[in-house]
Amino acid sequence: MPGTHLEMDLKALDVFACPECGAELRVARREEGGSQNGKIKEGQLRCTQCPATFPILRSMPRFVSSDEYAASLGYQWNQFDKLQLDKFMRNDLSRERFYATTGWPEHLEGQRVLEAGCGMGRFTQIALETGAEVFSFDLSSAIEANFKNNTDAAKVHIFQASIYKIPLRREAFDKIFCMGVLQHCPNVKQAFMSLIPFLRRGGEIAADVYQRHEGVPPLKYWARPFARRMQPQTLHTVLRWTIPPLFELKKALYKIPVAGEAIAALIPIGPLSHKPKLDYTDEELKEVKILSALDMLSPAHDHPQRIEDVRAWFEEAGLEGIQIKLGFNGINAKGKKPISPPEHHSRPNH
Ligand SMILES: C[S@@+](CC[C@H](N)C(=O)[O-])C[C@H]1O[C@@H](n2cnc3c(N)ncnc32)[C@H](O)[C@@H]1O
Ligand SMILES: [Zn+2]
Repeated sequence: MPGTHLEMDLKALDVFACPECGAELRVARREEGGSQNGKIKEGQLRCTQCPATFPILRSMPRFVSSDEYAASLGYQWNQFDKLQLDKFMRNDLSRERFYATTGWPEHLEGQRVLEAGCGMGRFTQIALETGAEVFSFDLSSAIEANFKNNTDAAKVHIFQASIYKIPLRREAFDKIFCMGVLQHCPNVKQAFMSLIPFLRRGGEIAADVYQRHEGVPPLKYWARPFARRMQPQTLHTVLRWTIPPLFELKKALYKIPVAGEAIAALIPIGPLSHKPKLDYTDEELKEVKILSALDMLSPAHDHPQRIEDVRAWFEEAGLEGIQIKLGFNGINAKGKKPISPPEHHSRPNH
């Protein structure tokens, strides 16, 4: 059926590849009545070379059978599926961070962009607004939230996969970005390196990662050994019970002359207002703080990095025009894959 969305999806299939052997995939089974919004809703992909098969569930291909270590982040993004979404919150928070990190133009029509670790899709929204065709994946059930948030866009392909085994054709992307993800992977350097083969020559990659500081670790690293072992639902309940009263207490303390402000500063829940930049109500701000505490305390992995190490990975990956600076989320880094492969000069033997 030329011209339908279904055909568009099948065209996108050319960009996918078997994560086991790299061969092409084809649709092996499509459930009766399993098409919705012109997309295959339930079915199966099959490798054309090896025995691997991959289910399509709720319109998204699945290349992993579970959330693995990222289940708490899946829970988090399905619970807080709108709170950081610019189009829902009517602010520019994600947009600002996207452009500060990538430095890319606002129009990317005709380009193919890959987003690794999309969460609930705050940056998917921004990437789609450039006019690019966006492939967006996450290891966790967070993709369900991204699907709800961004599936009305024609050029989005959301799937569940791991950064360590990306089911795509090599050198198929003009741009790749990975924001807020690398520190949550068990092997951070390997996670970054896994992205490089998918960038075309002359393409650009941008990533951010938490910065590691010398000296006494921030408070969250003292609490994490206990908190990250809790079920995310339990931790969420604890935070829902404690953060709103602490917020009210902090607010009351600020009103006490002389010592009030100093005592309030001891309550580690951050500022009580982001005005004039962000005009949150108190109730929204309490939710922001619950999300931020869950995000700090529950992920199985949190491995901040040193600037010099991040630079070394970019160099080892053979990228050029490397720019590394401190930004929204710690270290912001970007680079470009050279148009021609690096030449290996053999030294004359005399
Ligand atoms: C803190 S969230 C950030 C999500 C989104 N980029 C954002 O900034 O809102 C980190 C995300 O990385 C995902 N993630 C962790 N390990 C991953 C892996 N191996 N492959 C793909 N995604 C992964 C998690 O599931 C989670 O959604
Ligand atoms: Zn295969």
